[in-house]
Amino acid sequence: MSLLTGALSHFSNPKANVEAEYSAEQHAILNVADSENAIRDITQWPNYAATPLYLLNDIASAAKLKKLWYKDESQRFGLKSFKALGGAYAVARQLQILLHKQHGKMPTTKELLEGKWKSEVAEIVVSCATDGNHGRSVAWGAQMFGCGCVIYIHRDVSEGRKQAMEAFGAEVVRISGNYDESVRLADSEAKMHDRVIVSDTSYEGYMDIPKDVALGYTVMLAEVVEQLDGEIPSHVFIQGGVGGLASAVCGYFWDLWGKQRPRFIIVEPEQANCLQQSAQAGKPVVVGGDLETLMAGLACGEVSSLAWTILENGADDFMTLSEDAIPQAMRLLAKGYQSGGSIEAGESAVPGFAAAILARQHSDFSQAMQLNSSSRVLVIGTEGATDPELYKQLTA
Ligand SMILES: Cc1ncc(COP(=O)(O)O)c(C=O)c1O
Repeated sequence: MSLLTGALSHFSNPKANVEAEYSAEQHAILNVADSENAIRDITQWPNYAATPLYLLNDIASAAKLKKLWYKDESQRFGLKSFKALGGAYAVARQLQILLHKQHGKMPTTKELLEGKWKSEVAEIVVSCATDGNHGRSVAWGAQMFGCGCVIYIHRDVSEGRKQAMEAFGAEVVRISGNYDESVRLADSEAKMHDRVIVSDTSYEGYMDIPKDVALGYTVMLAEVVEQLDGEIPSHVFIQGGVGGLASAVCGYFWDLWGKQRPRFIIVEPEQANCLQQSAQAGKPVVVGGDLETLMAGLACGEVSSLAWTILENGADDFMTLSEDAIPQAMRLLAKGYQSGGSIEAGESAVPGFAAAILARQHSDFSQAMQLNSSSRVLVIGTEGATDPELYKQLTA
């Protein structure tokens, strides 16, 4: 009996090159040494705790894989997604940079947390457009460090997600348009009111802040390396939205492990596969349409330009996954991964997990990606029940 059902597509990246070195240009975007600063800062934040890395032995043996590791981000800082690390870290960095510019002295994380710069910080307002998890991180970071925050959401963002951001003290503006319109409005109002945009995607002229966001994510990757205790996975299946997360994972492991790095497979929704389409076109392309998918965090039509610089030859394979696999994968994890343990995994958490299992069920995909009974696969469960109502419905 199959563990999961669902449809996959696969594109093998012709530019992938296992012999290639991590280039100087890629290194300048993200590297292990810079990650040390993010680790030093983020581990000082209140309630920091490493999230668990589970070895899913029962599922691995049913899927005919040697090992299957699942990094569970469902409880990260109580925000329920790995995104807690990125937006909030970029907020802290912006406060440090701005205060240094204004007062000639760079506050430490500890000073910011202790409120030593309270009145100066209170005058700064950060802002972004979001479909949920990134905005929650920015709002939480703004509250933790004491600055103002205005978040823009589009018509389809659930009420629960809006309230989660308001609970961190952010002003949340809902517009009747789509995500791209919320981005434009956040930008124009930021210019008007002198706010700092903290976005998780990069484009021409806007690179430094998304770099800090990605450095925040590397805290999770350093934890994984420690938890793997010397083992190197053979494959990493990772879900992609704008590619910020995927590029952080790929770049960090490439810089750390060089040619021994795992085969790197990106998984996207069928209707929002801007990374796969970019690989097929040999350059970044924009995916139009309404990008409708259950995987709300992955509903992105445009790749982050910094992410592309790493993934262009760093990603080995690009896959899409059909929607019907998502609730099945969420239920599989909820019902108990082994000996009764249960994992809370939201809609955008499971595409990598589901694609690894499904690919193994199809001999042509398995062959194309050298996935077999000796494979040691790492997946990242990037969120928990970030929309509790939807989670309840989908896992019932
Ligand atoms: C839970 C979750 N997983 C994965 C991603 C994908 O991250 P990226 O957009 O950096 O590719 C997101 C993005 O919001 C997300 O919320």
